[in-house]
Amino acid sequence: MNVDLYERIWLWAAAGIIVVFLVSMGVTTFGYAVRPPSHVEMIDPTQVMTDPSFGPLGASTRPDGSVRVAMAALMFTFVPAEVHVPVGRPVTFRISSLDVSHGFDIAGTNANTMVLPGYVSQFTYTFQRPGEYLVVCNEYCGLGHHTMQGKIVVEAAP
Ligand code: CUA
Repeated sequence: MNVDLYERIWLWAAAGIIVVFLVSMGVTTFGYAVRPPSHVEMIDPTQVMTDPSFGPLGASTRPDGSVRVAMAALMFTFVPAEVHVPVGRPVTFRISSLDVSHGFDIAGTNANTMVLPGYVSQFTYTFQRPGEYLVVCNEYCGLGHHTMQGKIVVEAAP
């Protein structure tokens, strides 16, 4: 079968692009641990502040030594706006929105999730370095979106 030179070039170029896409998916999935959220839990948005299954808001330590952080997102802040967690221990974040869609992105890490009213976004992250981490909202949520931020203070082990 005779395939024209230019057609052959384009065929190989298209095949190359597909290979690049597949490899980049593998690198982000396994190398950077980028995964779709798998936790499904619903909550009444009007009860986020008081629902005992969601809270207590802020950081709390479980009996096994792991840490849980419950945070509420609302226009245009996180509640609480600052939490303190220990370094080197798994921290399970539980976040939900009181009003509209927000984002929860811990700058400098791959911890990043959408926060939707009616759902609990949950993920676990272990901080390897102490310091102050900025939390930004990365979903446009209104006029004050660019001011919506929080802070996570990762404390060195005593
Ligand atoms: Cu909240 Cu943007």
